[in-house]
Amino acid sequence: MKSGKIIVGNWKMDPQSKSDAQELIATLGSKLTKSKKAQAIICPPYIHLPYAIAMKNGFDIGAQNVSVEAKGSFTGEISVGMLISYGVKYIIIGHSERRAMGESDELINKKVLLALKSGLTPIICVGEKVRDHDGSYLAQIKSQIESALKGVKKTEIQKVIIAYEPIWAIGSDSAMAPRDIHEMTIYIKKILVDLFKIKGKVSVPILYGGAVDPLNAQSILSEGEADGLLIGRASLDARNFIEIINIAQNL
Ligand code: PGA
Repeated sequence: MKSGKIIVGNWKMDPQSKSDAQELIATLGSKLTKSKKAQAIICPPYIHLPYAIAMKNGFDIGAQNVSVEAKGSFTGEISVGMLISYGVKYIIIGHSERRAMGESDELINKKVLLALKSGLTPIICVGEKVRDHDGSYLAQIKSQIESALKGVKKTEIQKVIIAYEPIWAIGSDSAMAPRDIHEMTIYIKKILVDLFKIKGKVSVPILYGGAVDPLNAQSILSEGEADGLLIGRASLDARNFIEIINIAQNL
């Protein structure tokens, strides 16, 4: 995995029109440049992917979902093979909005294994609904990570990205405090060390997501020591997204 910051834009179910999507993609394509210090990955809805791939310049492409089945008769589904053949490199798996639509830990694990087997890099999302005072959210995060990575080999863990996204921060006005983010990145790395008996530095990038914007990005990346960001709303505004990439490149 590259050592620079990883900045992912999750467009969710936006932009609503072909023209708005093309305008956003074209602006990013003309303004972003590849840099070792920060890698930009945009994750548009499936329907906008071919245009994003054709225009990709200064950013990589991820998808927001994939079928758990490699092939077969599954109306409405998109397979890993299709994504790879179009040039998609990353896949968001286990986002809380998909978990809320019924995706189980077991399904998420199957998708992670399928992605790794096929050569897509999974961006696995984990996060607690609430931060209780007795700390049971910590056990929840541990169990989400352990079940998502069940059956993943030690040699494959280097190809995984984890995005810690506290659900209460997603779509809200304020991100988690940088020192709490730092605590969580340490905690998640410790889970990986124990799970895979890693000696030395953990090279799995731990991203933070939830109400990231150009005003808080710098402190999340530096004080929070996040290896990158998973950005929803601010990634739909070309100016904001580019500003965050610039912040990451200039750290
Ligand atoms: P937000 O969404 O940046 O709009 O809070 C983040 C996410 O859901 O990945």
